[in-house]
Amino acid sequence: MDLHDEAKAAQDAARGEIQSCSSLEDVDAVRIKYLGRKGEITFLLRKLGKVPPEQRKEVGGLLNEIKVEIGSLIESRKQDLKQQKYASGASAEALDVTLPGRTFKRGRFNPTLKMMDDLVQIFVGMGFSSVEGPEIETEYNNFDALNFPPWHPSRDDHDSFYVGDGYVLRTHTSPAQIRVMKSQPPPVRVVVPGRCHRRDTPDASHLMSFYQIEGLYVDFDVSMADLKGTLAAIAHEIFGEQTRIRFRPHYFPFTEPSTELDISCLVCEGKGCRLCKHSGWLEVLGCGMVHPNVFEHVGYDPRKVTGFAFGMGVERIATLKLGIGDIRLLYENDIRLLSQF
Ligand code: DAH
Repeated sequence: MDLHDEAKAAQDAARGEIQSCSSLEDVDAVRIKYLGRKGEITFLLRKLGKVPPEQRKEVGGLLNEIKVEIGSLIESRKQDLKQQKYASGASAEALDVTLPGRTFKRGRFNPTLKMMDDLVQIFVGMGFSSVEGPEIETEYNNFDALNFPPWHPSRDDHDSFYVGDGYVLRTHTSPAQIRVMKSQPPPVRVVVPGRCHRRDTPDASHLMSFYQIEGLYVDFDVSMADLKGTLAAIAHEIFGEQTRIRFRPHYFPFTEPSTELDISCLVCEGKGCRLCKHSGWLEVLGCGMVHPNVFEHVGYDPRKVTGFAFGMGVERIATLKLGIGDIRLLYENDIRLLSQF
């Protein structure tokens, strides 16, 4: 075989081997086999000196062509293999950017707190400021200064949580009235949202811990008409303009006269149903004109100032407004209920 034939044979072999390479390592091995320092093409080129001069040009040209061709076949095989490797890797780790993301459920305010916030905002819009009082109160502020007689049943330790030394977990937000009036001269226009505690057995309409919003408006010329106008506006704002209201006489030690505010039943609109116990009315809050004895306790002159006060249970208003049948559901933390509001 002369050099020309050897070159042609090497060319064929190299073409086949390059084609059947299945990895970059294989390709590199073929490159070394043919083009390396001791490679076949290199070897043949060295033999060129022994070829008769008249054939040397032709065989030399051929060898150079083969060398260039093998070089470029190797390069393109490498690119193919890299491409394949990338493609198979990409499908193994397939990332479909069009899939919807995994979402986390967002937290929400408990309906009670949301309702409390809404109510306070309504009062603030009417010119009341919002203040807070402590949950551990003196018995004096919680009862005595609010004109509770010593024998009043709610003072009973069956009804209140006493913590000793003349302190009690406040049973209502009304003691904040005492704190506010003791800390400033009239006029006073405040609401006090906050938590209260009573020794009640929880049932569909009672909790041991619950929220109230207290309101107090004291000035030199406040009348029952102011009380009625203010609370009627609030009731309409919360429950809607179509809701009818009535003030029903009641008794609280710290107000005289005292009344409870009722609204027409939200379910039957007054016709009578289970929710309103067939009365057509729902009780929403207590209120009245501040008792002169309370003014005496805080050092206000009851001959000069008058005022009205009110207190409402936030859970009660929330359950009425949202149509929740059992007050305990508000605190069971069942996401299926809470996520509805
Ligand atoms: N403190 C009363 C209660 O817990 C609610 C209340 C009634 C507050 C009349 C008042 C009021 O300020 O004037 O049942």
